[in-house]
Amino acid sequence: MIRVEKVSFAYNADSDSPVQALREVDLEIERGQFVVIVGHNGSGKSTLAKHFNALLIPTEGNVFVENMNTRDEKHIWDIRQKVGMVFQNPDNQLVATVVEDDIAFGPENVGVPPEEIQRRVDEAMRIMGISHVRDKAPHMLSGGQKQRVAIAGILAMQSNYIIMDEPTSLLDPVGREEVMESIRKLRREGISVILITHFMHEAIEADMVVVMDEGRIVMKGTPREVFGRAEEIRALSLDVPLVTQMAMRLNDMGVDIPRNVLSVEELIEHLC
Ligand SMILES: Nc1ncnc2c1ncn2[C@@H]1O[C@H](COP(=O)(O)OP(=O)(O)O)[C@@H](O)[C@H]1O
Ligand SMILES: [Mg+2]
Repeated sequence: MIRVEKVSFAYNADSDSPVQALREVDLEIERGQFVVIVGHNGSGKSTLAKHFNALLIPTEGNVFVENMNTRDEKHIWDIRQKVGMVFQNPDNQLVATVVEDDIAFGPENVGVPPEEIQRRVDEAMRIMGISHVRDKAPHMLSGGQKQRVAIAGILAMQSNYIIMDEPTSLLDPVGREEVMESIRKLRREGISVILITHFMHEAIEADMVVVMDEGRIVMKGTPREVFGRAEEIRALSLDVPLVTQMAMRLNDMGVDIPRNVLSVEELIEHLC
């Protein structure tokens, strides 16, 4: 698992004007879990994400990835191999001129034998459903396809955890759904996904939703627990999913329906 223990972090900690970005954060993410992190801009989500794979080291507290402390420099490459990262802009993370080479780039850099690389690349493309674009140039692909190539590159590294920092925010609705479908596939492969998003409906399928505000975790629980506390969510200038909002309105109007409905199917079941 990934274990975050009382982590505080300040940017420019040694300067006259440090920026306190994380305050005493505790969090445990188990293998195979799908965790969604939400919170308004500047609440510390990206800073926390960068602690999961040792891109940042805590000012105070500790982060352990499968019992390796991210402070320990001898573990840094192991940690980076286990915890991959997908960023917001698909154009900034593809490095090769051909899709297949891009996916092979990570394993090549760590000296995996060529036959093994080919096996991993084929497998990663199969899982992500991009085998048919293997010979294409990344810039010819849609945004959703580019993000799937980026995810395939992490799969080829055999990472156990994939952090995605707003991977859908620059995509159209089709591309967003492609990424969500990719996340479902990763879960079936037993890989943990930690998704940072501002689309609340993307949190509905999560095992755990984490809500951040001013560098702290202010709420943590199943989607039903968290979105059932709609007043608190709204006080943080966040929304609950649309279908939950509808259920709450109906409940306010006297309709016999729970206030923490999470899917359209569930809403229909209660109404009909
Ligand atoms: N490189 C940086 N240098 C200084 N301050 C930063 C840097 N990156 C982020 N911050 C500050 O840290 C806080 C948390 O930022 P961030 O983790 O990016 O939040 P989020 O991802 O939730 O929008 C914000 O106040 C932000 O301005
Ligand atoms: Mg961010």
